[in-house]
Amino acid sequence: MKIDAILTPAELPTLAKRDLRETLCVVFDVLRATSTFVTALHNGAKAIIPVGEISEVLAIRKKQPDVLLGGERDGVKIRAAQTGGTDFDLGNSPRECAPEKVRGKTIVSTTTNGTRALRACAGAKTVLAGSFLNLGATAEFIKKLQPAEVLLVCAGTRENRADEDVLAAGVLCELLEAGSSRCDDRTAQRAVPAKQSDSAEIARLAWTQAKSDLAAAVHNATNARRLLAIPELRDDVAFCLQRDVFPLVARMDADGAIRRQPA
Ligand code: MLT
Repeated sequence: MKIDAILTPAELPTLAKRDLRETLCVVFDVLRATSTFVTALHNGAKAIIPVGEISEVLAIRKKQPDVLLGGERDGVKIRAAQTGGTDFDLGNSPRECAPEKVRGKTIVSTTTNGTRALRACAGAKTVLAGSFLNLGATAEFIKKLQPAEVLLVCAGTRENRADEDVLAAGVLCELLEAGSSRCDDRTAQRAVPAKQSDSAEIARLAWTQAKSDLAAAVHNATNARRLLAIPELRDDVAFCLQRDVFPLVARMDADGAIRRQPA
């Protein structure tokens, strides 16, 4: 299995030219889009439809009046003034996705980076939404599937790299490496899958350095600082750094909707 990574959103346009037909993409927007989607699925949402623009959300609502509208601009819920009259039902906080709000619902969501990164992967054989919340289940699924290539896609923040996305990608490298045939007892500390790219190795090394205090590493990063400065959103940071609390695989199907992969 070859493991590659895209560490910045500036690289996303290259995906349109890349042959992804045998590739499994895992998209990380730890703060917060993919963490929010995983939480919503855990709490019973039927599906999440990620789209790039507010206008696309409104067009889907016109055809499907029952959908919930979700997402953010500048981190906060989208309001009537930005849409020509429609207040969104949800922002982009995982803590908003309570079971009584999302159970049985389809959520159409647009966020600054996360939903665009997911859409950019649409040509891939398999697309998963990854987060610290479901990393273990995601790694197990990939190990069983054994795709020819795994591409870790870090959604970032605006035009820049986001440390928390790179760190989550690094954990996945480590977990996949642990299942690698080259990882025998003697070499387990240093073994690298035969075809791990330099970018994937950067993510793995970043995680190795940060793992003893993940919260400290992430709290210094741009996205966390932005959220921590907003009183009603600050708790999202600790929420999104919980490890493996939702053991589910979030898969984007061919129709563009993310659903819980049946066990
Ligand atoms: C994004 O998609 O850019 C993020 O999830 C932004 C956020 O909600 O904090």
